[in-house]
Amino acid sequence: MSSPVVFPFKSNIDLDRNSNRHLYLQLCDQMIGFIKSGKLAPSSKLPGSRKLSEDLDVHRKTVVAAYDELMSQGWIESIPARGTFISQDLPIISPKKLRGFSNTTDTKNTAGFNFKKRKHLIRKEIETIPAALKVDDGVPDHRLAPIEDIAKAYRNITKKVHHRELLTYGDTYGNIDLRKALVIYLNQTRGLKITVDNILITRGSQMGIYLASQLLLNDKKTIITGKTNYMTADNTFTEASGVIKRVSVDAQGINTNEIETICKQQPISAIYVTSHHHHPTTVTLSAERRMHLLDLAQQYNFAIIEDDYDYDFHYSNAPILPLASNDAHGNVIYIGGFTKIIAPALRIGYFIAPKEAVDEAARLRRILDRQGDTLLEQTLARMISNGDVQRHSNKVRRIYKARRDLFCKLLQKQLGDFFDFEIPKGGMAVWVQLKKPYQWDLVMAETRKLNLVFINDWKRYDNDNTGHNGFRIGFAALNEEEIVEVIEKLASVLNSIKIT
Ligand SMILES: Cc1ncc(COP(=O)(O)O)c(C=O)c1O
Repeated sequence: MSSPVVFPFKSNIDLDRNSNRHLYLQLCDQMIGFIKSGKLAPSSKLPGSRKLSEDLDVHRKTVVAAYDELMSQGWIESIPARGTFISQDLPIISPKKLRGFSNTTDTKNTAGFNFKKRKHLIRKEIETIPAALKVDDGVPDHRLAPIEDIAKAYRNITKKVHHRELLTYGDTYGNIDLRKALVIYLNQTRGLKITVDNILITRGSQMGIYLASQLLLNDKKTIITGKTNYMTADNTFTEASGVIKRVSVDAQGINTNEIETICKQQPISAIYVTSHHHHPTTVTLSAERRMHLLDLAQQYNFAIIEDDYDYDFHYSNAPILPLASNDAHGNVIYIGGFTKIIAPALRIGYFIAPKEAVDEAARLRRILDRQGDTLLEQTLARMISNGDVQRHSNKVRRIYKARRDLFCKLLQKQLGDFFDFEIPKGGMAVWVQLKKPYQWDLVMAETRKLNLVFINDWKRYDNDNTGHNGFRIGFAALNEEEIVEVIEKLASVLNSIKIT
């Protein structure tokens, strides 16, 4: 096995000392390229590290590191007392075609098998325009996410050798340090009285809603929600074969007298509430109705799925403690997470319930998703324990409050003739009702022409087709300039619509 070194490395290798990529990796990349293209043939001998480092004018350690890397990947091999050679068996996978099969196209749209198509899960996608200003229905501003803090904590964790064990299969219930940190955090901030046994870590609140629905709703069990409700929760309940019954929602939140009437007529399994700020109308469930709901749950043995998705964003006074903080009889499944405080892509949430319900949810979770992202969970545990999460949450709360104030002030001043709305006490969106006869379809089509796109379909808020003309406009993800732009463009469109 040896052919002489004939390849002119000096004139062919080009290393960029200003690049962020290590020199030894650049050398590897280029050598692999020459091997793949056949310029460096299998079994050909490579120059010694000293010679190559002189040719390339790099430190010898750079060449040694590159050779080590290429060796570990199987591109080159070292033969004692003879030198280093391009491997005879290169690590290039060349798949063999199955004999007798004709060429097929790579992308296929139509499945050659049958499956259930769930019409209720199809969402109307609003086409966006790349350069347009996009308005959501109340999500956090990802530009404010504490990415440096996350990266620092993540780096520190991955550096520690003993944390390597986080890379193997772990606990389905979630990282134990995060669950311990959450016990302190949730008991302090939400008045809960939980232990680690009451916590299942999820991938965001949505997984919690899904698990709760699977636990409670199979075989056409009944769940009560508001007449306007978070559409994805409704879809989740329908998917779990639950039957949704709706009750009205007013300025006090969901109507508990109507719930009581239904309970007297038939068994119900659960009620879904966004008690802190009802989704979509943003109203807070009153203290009286909270007590009523807890009493009903105890009396009629149903579960309250309390989705506290935006607990941290309450602006007028201290946040109102969740129903879960007064749950003396184990009726509440409390769902929340960090996607709203930190960033939607940080998929960590929690499902809090009596232990036996948590155990069952964990079994269900395991067949869907074996476990969470343990390294990220450990990172979050550290950020909760060292106060980073609370600091960040205080910071964004102040920013969102200022944005809410500006948005509502301009909305009132420039668009008061066109919309009915209340200033929301918290959350990330304003519930606005477009006065009749104005129509959202026309307004949205016209704002598009001005490069302003509402990314949600307004019809999703009218589950019962009542024609209430209500819509959620998110303010949290818009900075001050963007808020001004949204209001001005809306005003220009609405003022130009002729009502006959
Ligand atoms: C009311 C409500 N619940 C739950 C969720 C889901 O949140 P997550 O991203 O944590 O899954 C959302 C998301 O917008 C929401 O608005």
